[in-house]
Amino acid sequence: MRLVLLGAPGAGKGTQAKKLIDKYGIPQISTGDILRKNVADGTPLGKEAKVIMDAGGLVSDKIVLGLIEDRLKQSDCKKGFILDGFPRNTAQAQSLDGILKNLGMPIDSALSVDVPKDDLMKRLTGRRTCKGCQQMYNVYFSAPKKDGTCDKCGGALFQRDDDKEETIKKRLDVYEAQTAPLFDYYGKKGILKSVMGVGSIDEIFSKVCKILGS
Ligand code: AP5
Repeated sequence: MRLVLLGAPGAGKGTQAKKLIDKYGIPQISTGDILRKNVADGTPLGKEAKVIMDAGGLVSDKIVLGLIEDRLKQSDCKKGFILDGFPRNTAQAQSLDGILKNLGMPIDSALSVDVPKDDLMKRLTGRRTCKGCQQMYNVYFSAPKKDGTCDKCGGALFQRDDDKEETIKKRLDVYEAQTAPLFDYYGKKGILKSVMGVGSIDEIFSKVCKILGS
């Protein structure tokens, strides 16, 4: 399976991708995670990206495409992959098609996770992530048993720098302007599918599996 996950910030792309990894044994490639790792490691790329990410904008196509091309060439992608948060605009989608054509592994499906805008703010302001194992929580919908501590590994939970209300508003605007046109892009290719991303995580996952044909 070679899948692109589409959806607004907070739609649950990362949450569903993690369940798909377990089911299909293929890697999740999240440009957001790769960029955040660079920020945490203090690399020159991370320093450049942090300013843009904290402002809710998109990191330059050149940076992101370089990261993605390197990642897709790794051997674990031969059996398939889940792209989460990439592509983010039409130029990235076109470049992705070119990279995958050269590698002989085109995208099979683009799955859009649809969530009403009103729900997204709570999902994002409430998100907490474990520093140790990356397990995600939500203080409104799936709070940890002990405040600030991961149920799974006991690690400390943190809030993403870009999950502040003002930044979220900007991210949603950028999504509407630059990423939403990708529905048309993949629709014209005949590979666009969609799932309503409201309900429990497991209910959504079973709909996702049905839609993806398993
Ligand atoms: P990125 O990390 O990709 O963030 P995003 O697209 O804004 O998406 P999120 O990770 O915020 O949300 P999600 O849909 O994965 O939701 P999640 O599963 O976490 O990008 C961050 C930044 O990096 C960008 O702004 C940009 O600057 C840069 N960047 C990244 N890629 C780029 C690219 N290609 N080009 C340029 N720049 C790029 O869930 C959210 C919360 O909701 C969690 O708390 C979760 O527990 C909860 N939740 C999930 N499902 C449910 C449910 N069914 N019910 C209740 N709560 C739920």
